[in-house]
Amino acid sequence: MTIAFSGRRCPWTTKTKTQTRLDMADTLTITDNRTGRKYEIPIQDGTIRAIDLRQIKVNPEEFGMMTYDPAFTNTAACRSRITYIDGDHGVLMYRGYPIEQLAEHSDFLETAYLILFGELPTTGQLEQWSGDITRHTMLHENIKKFLEGFRYDAHPMGMFLSAVGALSTFYPDAKNIFDQSSRRLQTIRLIAKVPSLAAYAFRHTIGRPYVLPDNDLSFSGNFLNMLFKMTEPRYQPHPVLERALDVLFILHADHEQNCSTHAMRGIVYGPLHGGANEAVLKMLTEIGSIEHVPAFIKRVKGGEGRLMGFGHRVYKSYDPRATIIKRIADLVFEKTGRNPLLNIALELERIALSDDYFISRKLYPNVDFYSGLIYQAMGFPVSMFPVLFAIPRTAGWIAQWEEMLTDPEQKIARPRQIYVGPARRDYISRDRRR
Ligand code: ACO
Repeated sequence: MTIAFSGRRCPWTTKTKTQTRLDMADTLTITDNRTGRKYEIPIQDGTIRAIDLRQIKVNPEEFGMMTYDPAFTNTAACRSRITYIDGDHGVLMYRGYPIEQLAEHSDFLETAYLILFGELPTTGQLEQWSGDITRHTMLHENIKKFLEGFRYDAHPMGMFLSAVGALSTFYPDAKNIFDQSSRRLQTIRLIAKVPSLAAYAFRHTIGRPYVLPDNDLSFSGNFLNMLFKMTEPRYQPHPVLERALDVLFILHADHEQNCSTHAMRGIVYGPLHGGANEAVLKMLTEIGSIEHVPAFIKRVKGGEGRLMGFGHRVYKSYDPRATIIKRIADLVFEKTGRNPLLNIALELERIALSDDYFISRKLYPNVDFYSGLIYQAMGFPVSMFPVLFAIPRTAGWIAQWEEMLTDPEQKIARPRQIYVGPARRDYISRDRRR
């Protein structure tokens, strides 16, 4: 295969500008020497879309060309407006502000606001934000009991991780990820509570009682208080140490698509993955009876919701697991009695499989279409469904992780990004912000 660029070089590759500007069609011409065919692929932001390579095939039955990129060293996985790094020139900016200026003039809470919301806060916004964070630093007493269950020599990171996971059980409303006000509340809760959890974990390892937050101290000052307070009535952080910690927090607040951030972006839990069988049962219950199936299908085709348990990123025909599960369902229902929702599911499948909307999009039942019906018939509550998924998948996760670990071609997964955020700008003091 030979490759030739045509058109203007994208400003991104020169690393001099931080804005996306393309007003002429840049393209990449690829000649497949296996077939002699030529392909013209658009270039945007100095990248080509990997999916554009899929058309490159020797035979029409082939899947098509992919890129192989262990650890994503040369794959931009997203467009992002948050952080810009120019590794060659030692540049790091959050939302356009150079890290040096933030470290000099800002503090962690203000920087966190900037990273989360895109702009430096006005005085009023900062007061509100700091107040919100301060009011959410306390932990539920049960979290304390939870931490007490750890052994004396438990690693603080293990305790911290488990306790963050446990927070989700205290705030089930965090599931409403498409509700902006809920997202904002969970953001405040997390930023406010992680220092408290970290301090509790630390005090546990050294056998000292947990210290309550002090609302009159700064974010970092209060963290030092919760870590190191002894018998004094009021802990006063040393200003040098308080500022040092704050600057360290500013420097660590984001680093674009590093491996932990990449993992965070990839986390999926909900009706589209992991919780789909629960969503199927909810959908079947809402449909209620076979007569309502055609109207439901019509709504889905009109863009109102999805037919849960249908479609898959990889399977573009019947999911082989769904075929097996359907057979097992019959055997299970012989023993447990027929799940009344099964008839609705069968009718949905029958109509969908003969409807052009679903056929043209290659949407077929997936593994989750019938699994929930079986689990329910066996007596499992729906809240157990994702747990039942995690039991067998633990084998796969570990196998995949170990394979990654021992593959010499693999290293830390660190995709690249296309930065589309603000260009470099100077820090503005609080009294001059509008
Ligand atoms: N019902 C109706 N339309 C659908 C469905 C569906 N279940 N799935 C996809 N489509 C449509 C989309 O609206 C889109 O139509 P458009 O081209 O007119 O915009 C087209 O099909 C392509 O859909 P995408 O969302 O781009 O496909 P993707 O590969 O991202 O989605 C997914 C795969 C998430 C599984 C999707 O099919 C879906 O949401 N299914 C329902 C949820 C589900 O059953 N998830 C379980 C998957 S298996 C598992 O996770 C273990």
